Amino acid sequence: MKPSILVTRHVYPEAIAILEAAGDVHYNDSSDGLSAQALRAAAAGKRAIVCQLTDRIDAALMDSAGDLAVIANVAVGFDNIDVPAATERGIVVTNTPGVLTDTTADLAFALILASARRIAEADRFLRAGRWHQWEIDLLCGHDIHGHTLGILGLGRIGQGMARRASGFDMRVVYHDMQRARPDQEREWGIEYVDIEYVDKETLFRESDFLSIHVPLTEQTRHLVGAAELERMKPTAVLVNTSRGPVVDEKALADALENGRIASAGLDVFEAEPEVESRLLALENVVLVPHIGSASIKTRTRMCTMAAENAVAVLSGRRPENPVNSEVLGED
Ligand code: DGY
Repeated sequence: MKPSILVTRHVYPEAIAILEAAGDVHYNDSSDGLSAQALRAAAAGKRAIVCQLTDRIDAALMDSAGDLAVIANVAVGFDNIDVPAATERGIVVTNTPGVLTDTTADLAFALILASARRIAEADRFLRAGRWHQWEIDLLCGHDIHGHTLGILGLGRIGQGMARRASGFDMRVVYHDMQRARPDQEREWGIEYVDIEYVDKETLFRESDFLSIHVPLTEQTRHLVGAAELERMKPTAVLVNTSRGPVVDEKALADALENGRIASAGLDVFEAEPEVESRLLALENVVLVPHIGSASIKTRTRMCTMAAENAVAVLSGRRPENPVNSEVLGED
């Protein structure tokens, strides 16, 4: 009998083709997803679940599936899944690292440019018919080139930011739980960039642009709050493309309102799709709806990668991207 596979939401069709070759696919072809109750009902009897970051996959859901072998998330982040509960039950969890690195770094860099050079604000200004003449101080922002980029979290996307910064002749400083090896620092500091490890306090103090690239865990929740924002330069720009709850949104709104920092570029929010109303009212913040990895090519690859991970587990093979490799007897 073919294994039963649940796809919780709309995905690119290439992924469905991969899954259909390996099992019976129950596809909720809708972007709206299912309620917690409907998701539990849909999970019953499934061997694989292909889900997205908007699906909460908890222990109760795993138990309602009965004999679940794999949860394949179409995302690199997996804070929507109770991974310890999956590990306890011998269920493999997979994600989609690597494929979205450059696409997400592109967006983070775009937010740096847009925030510093007031691009969204300038667009609104022009469309509102408020442009009457060239003026010496019209919509002046801050330079990016020659300034300091701070990277909080030097994983794949953080490294992608360092590479991009080299084209803008920036100094790059970073902080991570683990310092990179000197040869890696040299490699990523290509051309004009000297990549430099600093403690977290120095990172906040010295960055002209601070870009966040850490996963959401209990340790990183509100990693950037009032105290950290207080340390930043009044001309600094904060960019977050990781997970909303890494930043205390209310403290950020305070800092932007009272000019504690100059501006921010946000792709992610604490309670998506809700956005703190004070942020919506501010001119000095660029807001986009969690589109870091949103290029057609990357999103297609994320879907096929998740499908391949699910099929690998169902076929008794090692998936490319296990999150809890101890279930595979590897750690
Ligand atoms: C992820 O993959 O975790 C992003 O947030 C969505 O691409």
